[in-house]
Amino acid sequence: MTDLETLQRDALAAVERAGDLDALDEARVRFTGKKSDLVTIQKGMRELSPDERKERGKQLNAFRDTFQRAFDARRDELASVALRERLEAERLDLSLPPRRLTPGRPHLLTQVEQEIVDVFVGLGYRVAEGPEVESGAYNFDLLNIEPDHPARQEMDTIYVSFAADVVLRTHTSPVQARTMTAQAPPVAVVCPGRVYRADSVDATHSPVFTQVEGLLVAQDVSMADLRGTLLAFSRALFGAERQIRLRPSFFPFTEPSAEVDVSCGFCGAADGRAGDPDCRVCSGTGWIEILGAGMVDPNVLSACGYDPGEVSGFAFGIGVERVAMLRHGVRDIRDFYDADARFLSRF
Ligand code: PHE
Repeated sequence: MTDLETLQRDALAAVERAGDLDALDEARVRFTGKKSDLVTIQKGMRELSPDERKERGKQLNAFRDTFQRAFDARRDELASVALRERLEAERLDLSLPPRRLTPGRPHLLTQVEQEIVDVFVGLGYRVAEGPEVESGAYNFDLLNIEPDHPARQEMDTIYVSFAADVVLRTHTSPVQARTMTAQAPPVAVVCPGRVYRADSVDATHSPVFTQVEGLLVAQDVSMADLRGTLLAFSRALFGAERQIRLRPSFFPFTEPSAEVDVSCGFCGAADGRAGDPDCRVCSGTGWIEILGAGMVDPNVLSACGYDPGEVSGFAFGIGVERVAMLRHGVRDIRDFYDADARFLSRF
């Protein structure tokens, strides 16, 4: 009798003392397991009289019930303490400001190049590309640039091998020649890419810069088509109110050739009227030069295997840096290449 009372007191104290679920389980094994005093007492019942055995049985059942209730209560308590601790440890403060993400973006020149290309893709042109290391044949010969033309001098052209006539292309026009020698007319392509010249660096010159070439060859293509195309391009990039003007010029691969100006629009002279003499974009002329263009020279058409009696075409070469500078008020071409994140992240 006494031993059962002691057992119960010890057992309940152990349950109460258990600091975590493992300790609680140890107490259960110690006080009710196979090797526990409880089992010893149970075994001793065989020696009792039937009445005593009956009484003992009740007491044992009462002990088991009491123990189980205490055990369950402590287990729930410890489980909820454990849960509370875990919730505390894993607490998320949803009101904390997030770490700032600074996503990357295409370089400004890539953005502008893409905008230019998109305008022409919208007009039905396809994109063509060529190598930056180019043969003299494509860069010069097929484009009607004579062997003694001054642009061929090492002064302007960066030669990879003078002996083998391999250059860094000086313009994207060789992609015109590559396109025409590779496919029959009609063709309508834009050719974006990097070009190289032996220029020294200043605010408006860089030995590496970017052009987008355009070429359209088909039956009865006229100068009026060229003008309409370039007007559509200028308005798409600079604004619907812009005008363009063509000034006579010379390129060996186009005849006639033109320099194309877009009306300023920065000092209010969007229609080509004289602008503000202090305008840093047009200096008061009301016009800004944006590209070179012309009708593809018949010599170029035939050198590339086209019949100038059958087809005609126009070509143009847009300076991407120049367009980007005008569009975004960039004053120094070096800003594009300096990789200064403060500059680049503005666009
Ligand atoms: N290739 C010329 C240049 O780099 C630009 C141009 C292209 C002019 C096509 C006319 C036609 O200056």
